[in-house]
Amino acid sequence: MRTVTTNAVNTTLANSALEARQHITRSGMSDLYKVGDCGAWHTIKIARPEITGAEHSLRKEASAYQIIGPHPHIMPYRGSGTYRDQFFVQLDYLDEQHFVTDDDKAPMDEAHVVRIAHALAGALSYIHERNYLHLDVKPDNIWLGNVPMLFDFGLAQPVNTKNLSQTLILTPSYALPNRLMGNACTFNDDLFALGLTLYYWSTGHDPFEFAMTWDWDNANFSEYFQRWIDEHDCMRDAIDQGHHSKPFRQLLKGLLLYSGAQPFVTGTDVANYLTRSFPNT
Ligand SMILES: Nc1ncnc2c1ncn2[C@@H]1O[C@H](COP(=O)(O)OP(=O)(O)OP(=O)(O)O)[C@@H](O)[C@H]1O
Ligand SMILES: [Mg+2]
Repeated sequence: MRTVTTNAVNTTLANSALEARQHITRSGMSDLYKVGDCGAWHTIKIARPEITGAEHSLRKEASAYQIIGPHPHIMPYRGSGTYRDQFFVQLDYLDEQHFVTDDDKAPMDEAHVVRIAHALAGALSYIHERNYLHLDVKPDNIWLGNVPMLFDFGLAQPVNTKNLSQTLILTPSYALPNRLMGNACTFNDDLFALGLTLYYWSTGHDPFEFAMTWDWDNANFSEYFQRWIDEHDCMRDAIDQGHHSKPFRQLLKGLLLYSGAQPFVTGTDVANYLTRSFPNT
């Protein structure tokens, strides 16, 4: 560990390294930069000052990473700091070509999806053991390099916390009904989102496709939930009629139960099911 500067607290990055940063991408809330320091590459995520709530969300993300702690399938977090009055989070730099945002990776073969599912169930188990929820599990927030990693903890919060925010940031296909309704979320919300993600990777179809063109500004929620229930039934039928193995279909259908008798309570149950049902992956 070296150089803790007056400008950058709780991070090992030197100001000279921060000065030479290279822009990677701009997301809705932040700018991400690649920073080289001491022979290693890091990524810093800086909240966009013009976006209301962006810094608050990034501070929440830093605190979630700290509370949850390191895990092989969670993006390595290295600290946080402020640079030129802007708060940032420091992460390991991960190879940009393994961030999936394009459609060409789905559908994947079942064995591959099972391997990724196992990694993600391990990460969720670790998060859930700490009574925390990720609340934004979706393909865009999973790095698919040699060791899959979950990232983007901007919505993470302790279990059973009510979301009082008036503004909802969501990816329509992966919107969680509990978040839409302002209810407290539970472990089941993360497992359901994992189910949607595995559904996409194994079938190549976006879940809740109608939500992508839904008129969110004039949302009529009772109409929305009726469509949601219809599409949810169709997805379950599609799983039954698909070509996947029985244990895989049971995994998907179990994860995609949103209320009632879910066979899994936390990520740990999913990880155990995968170990039992797919001993060779
Ligand atoms: N450690 C990293 N190394 C390299 N690139 C990264 C890293 N973390 C994130 N990125 C890039 O930045 C993008 C956005 O990251 P992230 O999801 O954490 O930000 P966000 O502000 O929450 O974005 P969004 O609103 O799009 O979800 C990723 O999709 C990826 O392209
Ligand atoms: Mg993201």
